Amino acid sequence: MKIKKQTTLLIIFSILFSFGCNQKTVKNEVNIDKKVDSVLKLMTLEEKIGQLSLFTSDMDQTGAFIRKEYQEDIKKGRVGAIFNAYGAAYTRKLQEMAMNTRMKIPLLFGYDVIHGHRTIFPVPLAEAASWDLAAIELSARVAATEAAAEGLHWTFAPMCDIARDPRWGRVVEGAGEDTYLGSLIAQARVKGFQGNDLAATNTVAACVKHFAAYGAAQAGRDYHSVDMSERMLREVYLPPYQAAIDAGAVTVMTSFNDLNGIPATANRFLMTDILRNEWNFKGFVVTDYTSIMELMFHGVAADTAQASELSILAGVDMDMQSGFYNQELENLVKTGKVTESAIDEAVKRILRVKFQLGLFENPYKYCNEELEKETLMKPEFLESARDVARKSIVLLKNENGILPINKQVKSIAVIGPFADNKRDLIGSWSAAGNWSKSVSLLEGIKAKLPEANVLYARGSNIADDSTQFFAEAVNIAKKADIVILALGEAAYMTGEAASRSSLDLPGVQMQLAQKIYETGKPIAVVLMNGRPLTINWLNEKVPAILETWFLGTQAGNAIADVLFGDYNPSGKLPITFPRAVGQIPIHYNMKNTGRPMDPNNKYSSKYLDISNEPLYPFGFGLSYTQFEYGELSLSKNEISENETLTVKISIKNTGKFKGKEVVQLYIRDLVASVSRPVKELKAFQKIELEAGESKMLEFKISTKELSFYKADMSFGYEKGEFEILIGGNSRDTKNVKFLLK
Ligand code: BGC
Repeated sequence: MKIKKQTTLLIIFSILFSFGCNQKTVKNEVNIDKKVDSVLKLMTLEEKIGQLSLFTSDMDQTGAFIRKEYQEDIKKGRVGAIFNAYGAAYTRKLQEMAMNTRMKIPLLFGYDVIHGHRTIFPVPLAEAASWDLAAIELSARVAATEAAAEGLHWTFAPMCDIARDPRWGRVVEGAGEDTYLGSLIAQARVKGFQGNDLAATNTVAACVKHFAAYGAAQAGRDYHSVDMSERMLREVYLPPYQAAIDAGAVTVMTSFNDLNGIPATANRFLMTDILRNEWNFKGFVVTDYTSIMELMFHGVAADTAQASELSILAGVDMDMQSGFYNQELENLVKTGKVTESAIDEAVKRILRVKFQLGLFENPYKYCNEELEKETLMKPEFLESARDVARKSIVLLKNENGILPINKQVKSIAVIGPFADNKRDLIGSWSAAGNWSKSVSLLEGIKAKLPEANVLYARGSNIADDSTQFFAEAVNIAKKADIVILALGEAAYMTGEAASRSSLDLPGVQMQLAQKIYETGKPIAVVLMNGRPLTINWLNEKVPAILETWFLGTQAGNAIADVLFGDYNPSGKLPITFPRAVGQIPIHYNMKNTGRPMDPNNKYSSKYLDISNEPLYPFGFGLSYTQFEYGELSLSKNEISENETLTVKISIKNTGKFKGKEVVQLYIRDLVASVSRPVKELKAFQKIELEAGESKMLEFKISTKELSFYKADMSFGYEKGEFEILIGGNSRDTKNVKFLLK
């Protein structure tokens, strides 16, 4: 009775509290809007247009500098924001220029803080493999703390592009192929960057990019066109962007691609109808780099004036780097092609964010050299980076329990172009990260095994054809009890403008692997890469494979933790690994087709020369222990629209180690007005079990999880039979059906 009373009080209190908070937020928003209006009233048209321009700072051997013409523009109040400038002292110097203008509107400093700023965390695709939202949020939090301490206000992240084509180099910057997982991760990143208070000196404004559908570039070729149905767009590609905006992200970046013929930067359907009108986005939109200028190459604008007109009228507020807004908008207003109120709207959106960041109160708020000094690469940040890195590792194969390696091992050979490599560990888009501060695999192993004889050979370079280092590597392998073979792609082969037509290991690395294999020594392959690779031969021959992506500053320590059993791997693939490029696009949530694959029927949906199955399915990842999935049980076999179904399954750790498992729940709608995927991820739980322990897990399912865009494009559910599939990956599942009455 007492408990009940307390609970009721608690509920009343929390309702009042959240009402109070909401009231406070609404009041703050109104206050900010009033302040914005009062500033806007005092501005000339030229000053207004100036707020819509973002220019880069540069770097040469002598350090950071800003071009003469941009300095002039800042001094005339013709610049709203600068990117690629960081450092408390440097940003203060630039801010002072803005403070000497008539309006004294502070500059906004932006930068690509994608996976860490100074302390580099795993690349985003790797972090997604952790399926650990708290870890991902923490990573963004540390990045924001370091970035804000160096004068930055704004990061160009998170990238929320769903990517189903690993040829596209930018798969490394996102959360993989799945909409549900991608949406949760997008939210975690925004929360991490922005915290609860944008004005705090350890938060930065997030930028949701690249809006929209950039990840669907044809043939995986960067910047290529995207042509897709509105159903596919809304169902698969848009939800992660929306999730990030719902989590409070205050800015959005356009994408380079055209979508169904209209380049994103000139796309009013995306930037206004969807973003503002449907999603109620109140922040501002910035172009991706010179994409206003690129409208001319797309062939939708004849000149700089038309490109500017199309962009501003689409709802694009800030021009990154092309300088077209500064050049053209005044004239477009004078000739009546663009109204001044359209300019005002864009300015207001930008000023709002500057107010939210607290820049009008104190433009130097983030230019604190003391804070900068005590914040960057703190030991606790390095510790967090190591932990997130361990959580991002995926064990792809482990025959006969060759891993973890006993720490008593006498001699161990660490071979390959990634064995003593620091440069590539921090991956692409590693911001102000200094690769020379990263811990190589060799260093990590040596630190872990001070007593052992740790041998090293480079074996080969990453991408050339030279076999000159093979003989030494083979010799070294022969002397060791076990070989760690570190293979992969260079960081520059992933990220922007890094599409590949082959997913094989580059150079002669496969030949090196074959040579080492011929020695007969046990081998554990450590992969470093930013996308799925086609590694069929390794999967067939080598007993152990660890996918370590690019893990950042603490990579070597994190990998050693896993290799020697101080950490039991628990990562799961956020993207399918194909067997061959010819299978692409390949993702777990495909349709069944009218002629589902049948090995005995030539006229079924398959290839003549390869199986339909991927090498490793989405959600896949092993542990040093084993998990046994019990039978699925349902609270009911039939539910009505207002009911919630409870699904139970027991998971047992049947192995020898304590371990974590990501239990994944998929749903299939068996008959609907449109064909539905064979399964879709709808929930997951990451649990930890002691050896021998079991746990009963419960999932709740309501019509929310059963909804989709129906034949008439309305969003909702349809009654009928559904299948629930639960497992440790998207392939090996226990299944049960139920009916929605
Ligand atoms: C990339 C963006 C990035 C921007 C600014 C562009 O080339 O596509 O992702 O934020 O540059 O550096």
